[in-house]
Amino acid sequence: MSVPHSRILGTGHYVPERVLTNQELEAKVDTSDEWIVSRTGIRERHIAAEGEATSDMASEAAKRALAAAGIEATDLDLIIVATVTPDMPLPSTACFVQSKIGARRDCPSFDIAAACAGFIYGLDLADKFVRTGAAKYVLVVGVELLSRVMNWDDRTTCVLFGDGAGAAIVGASDGERGLLSTHIYADGGFTQSLQIPGGGSVEPATASSVAQGRHTVHMIGKDIFKAAVKNLSAASKAALEQNDLTTDDVDWVVPHQANLRILGGVSERVGIPMSRFYLNLERYGNTSSASIPIALDEGVRAGEIKPGQTVLVCALGGGVAWGSAVMRF
Ligand code: UT7
Repeated sequence: MSVPHSRILGTGHYVPERVLTNQELEAKVDTSDEWIVSRTGIRERHIAAEGEATSDMASEAAKRALAAAGIEATDLDLIIVATVTPDMPLPSTACFVQSKIGARRDCPSFDIAAACAGFIYGLDLADKFVRTGAAKYVLVVGVELLSRVMNWDDRTTCVLFGDGAGAAIVGASDGERGLLSTHIYADGGFTQSLQIPGGGSVEPATASSVAQGRHTVHMIGKDIFKAAVKNLSAASKAALEQNDLTTDDVDWVVPHQANLRILGGVSERVGIPMSRFYLNLERYGNTSSASIPIALDEGVRAGEIKPGQTVLVCALGGGVAWGSAVMRF
């Protein structure tokens, strides 16, 4: 009996309306549009409205993905939400999403925390559920509301990130199209390099921890930069090797959108020109786990990422956790 493989049946994304430009940031911290663009490639990012929650953004993206896949929320067998900015530590954001999109009250729903690699971790899990027959339709959402965990006085982080959500419906493939492989990895030697140190069991929230901004993102950018170039390149090569693909076979690389210079390094090391990298970071900044599904959905809706094309995705973030996946889209 042949083992079924999985395919992305539909995608959707949502970004909040409010756009925050580099010029506006110039008025808040000691930075410049020139520095941000030349060091990262980012020009603007979207910021959630007051009262808008992570699960609101996730649900909007999920509804659009369900519509694109042509299925109902009640058809879902599993909901996976990848986020490091949940609505609250308990319960999972996935449970809020289940309720907001009208999925079945018995549909298993849980969050995963793999930072910027979260969507690829989610795809890996969804693929395994579909292959084993444990689920027919899986919703995978990558969503972040990073503006709520930014230190808006820290120019080394606040210029980099944005809010948004992207979603995919993963189901069984009935043909050539589908996920060819997923590779996921983590290296706990980098736990100090990218953290939200406060608010957990190590440093529970106190008036003083909040005053010191311990509940906001702290990053040693250079550590993450170097780890990203090295590991994204290796994971991308592993994905190609596993599927006997050459760099010429890849129509699109849809990478995690953190920094144009990181992607330049990956392009050079893997040997795929930047013209085949699908990029939108100049308009969204780094939306962590949401960046790949937002880019995928934009590419699909723009008619640029087409059925049957070979698409490589790769991401690295806090942990560090990283991964890659290849699909015949
Ligand atoms: O999503 C996964 C997680 N994140 C990432 O992938 C991000 C990975 N890291 C990076 O993208 C880069 O390391 C950054 C964009 C964060 C920083 O770029 P860099 O080339 O590594 O710059 P740097 O940290 O070495 O800083 C260079 C200079 C410093 O000044 P001095 O010490 O040379 O005088 C910084 O203080 O730039 C300064 N600087 C800024 N200047 C203006 C740092 N941030 C800013 C800023 N505006 N926003």
